[in-house]
Amino acid sequence: MRTTFPKDFLWGAATAAHQVEGNNINSDFWLLERMPETLFAEPSGDTIDHYHRYREDIALLAKLGFNSYRFSIEWARVEPEEGYFSDAVINHYRRMLEVCHEHNLKPMVTFHHFTSPRWLISKGGWENEDTAGRFARYCSEITKRLGDLMDKACTINEVNIPVVINRVHLRGIDLQELGFMQAAKPLLGISPSDKLNTFMFTPSPKGREVILEAHRQATSAIKSVKPAMPVGMTISMDDLQAVDGGEVIRDQIRHELQDVYLEAAREDDFLGVQTYTRARIGPEGKLEPEAGIELTQMGFEFWPRALEATLRYANEVANVPLTVTENGIATSDDARRTEYYEQALAGVANCLDDGLDIRGYYAWSAFDNFEWMLGYEPKFGLVEIDRSNQERIVRQSGRRLGEIARANCIP
Ligand code: BGC
Repeated sequence: MRTTFPKDFLWGAATAAHQVEGNNINSDFWLLERMPETLFAEPSGDTIDHYHRYREDIALLAKLGFNSYRFSIEWARVEPEEGYFSDAVINHYRRMLEVCHEHNLKPMVTFHHFTSPRWLISKGGWENEDTAGRFARYCSEITKRLGDLMDKACTINEVNIPVVINRVHLRGIDLQELGFMQAAKPLLGISPSDKLNTFMFTPSPKGREVILEAHRQATSAIKSVKPAMPVGMTISMDDLQAVDGGEVIRDQIRHELQDVYLEAAREDDFLGVQTYTRARIGPEGKLEPEAGIELTQMGFEFWPRALEATLRYANEVANVPLTVTENGIATSDDARRTEYYEQALAGVANCLDDGLDIRGYYAWSAFDNFEWMLGYEPKFGLVEIDRSNQERIVRQSGRRLGEIARANCIP
C-alpha cells in the first residue's frame, strides 16, 4: 500500500451552515425543529456560532495542517425573501473565503446542504419544477459575487438523501402525516391537503426529478459565470453488501439509492462521495447490524473499510474524478475516531494504487455540531465544542489527521 498521496491532494474537514452557524431563522428546518411533536431531538439554536467565530475556526483548521475547507453557504440567509439578495450576508461569506485564502486553505463551497429558505417551501419546495430555476438563480448570483474566491463548487449535498432516509431510516413511513409537519403547514401558508416538501423529506419521483434538474441548472449557471471552476454534486453512499442470497434485492436498492445518481454524475467535473458505514442486505432487505460489531453513536457499524468499496463502485459507475467530501464517525471515544480515519485512509490509498482518480479527502466533521434529527448528542468533531462557552478543544484525532494532511502521507 502506498503511504504518499498525490501532489495537490486536497486535505480538509467539512461543515454545513445549518449545523454550525446558528440562528438560521429563515430556513425551513428552524421552523420544523420547533413544531410540537417534532422529530428533532432539540432545536439547533446558536449551534457553535461559526457565523461569528469563523476566523478562529478557519485559523485552527489551517494550524492543524489542512489545505482546504469545505463549507456551505446558507441560501435562506443569502436570499431570505425571493429575489432579495442580502449584501451583508454575501459579504460575510466573502470574508470567510478571504480568511481561507489568508490561511492557504482552498475553499470548496456547497450551495445547498439540506436546508432551504422558508419561502421556497411555501411555493411547493422540492416538488415544484420552478425550484430548479430558483436554485440556479441563487447559484448564479453567488458565483458572480464570490466565485473568484472559490476553488471548487458542490451544488447539492447528498442528492440522494431523501431516498436514503425514506428507504433506509424511515422504512417508508410517510412524514406528511406526522403532527409536526401538519403543524408547520399553516405557518408556511400551505393548506393541510398540500404537501410540505423540504429537501430531505421529499423522496417522491417528482422530488427526485426536481433535485437532479436543480443540480443540472445550477451547474450550467455556475459554469456560465466561472467556466473553469470544477462543479459537482455529492452523494451519500453506504457500502451495500449482499448476504445470504441478497444480491437481487441489493442490486435493486443500489439502483434506486445510488446508480441513478452515479449515472447522472457522468456529465460532471467530479463527484463527492460521502460514506460512513456499510449496510448488509439479505433477501428480505436491509439487515440489522451484525452481532458483535462495534456500533457508533449513530447506531452504525464501525466499518471504515466501507469507503474503499464505495469509491471503487462510484468510479465504476460514474467514471469521473472523485473526492471524498465526507467520511467520519460519531463517537465519545476519540481513539476509535483516529483508528477509523487511519483505516479509511488506507482504503483511499489502495484505490489510488489501483489508479482511481481521487482528488481529495474531507473529514466529517471539523467540529462537533448539530446532527439534524439527533441534535447535539452525536460527536463527529475533530474539534470538541463546549457549547456552554463555545470553547474549541482540539481532539487527538484532529491532530493526527492534520499531521497526515501536512505530510501528505500516512507516517
Ligand atoms: C450529511 C451531514 C451529516 C452527516 C452525519 C451526512 O449525511 O451530509 O450533514 O451530519 O452525514 O450524519
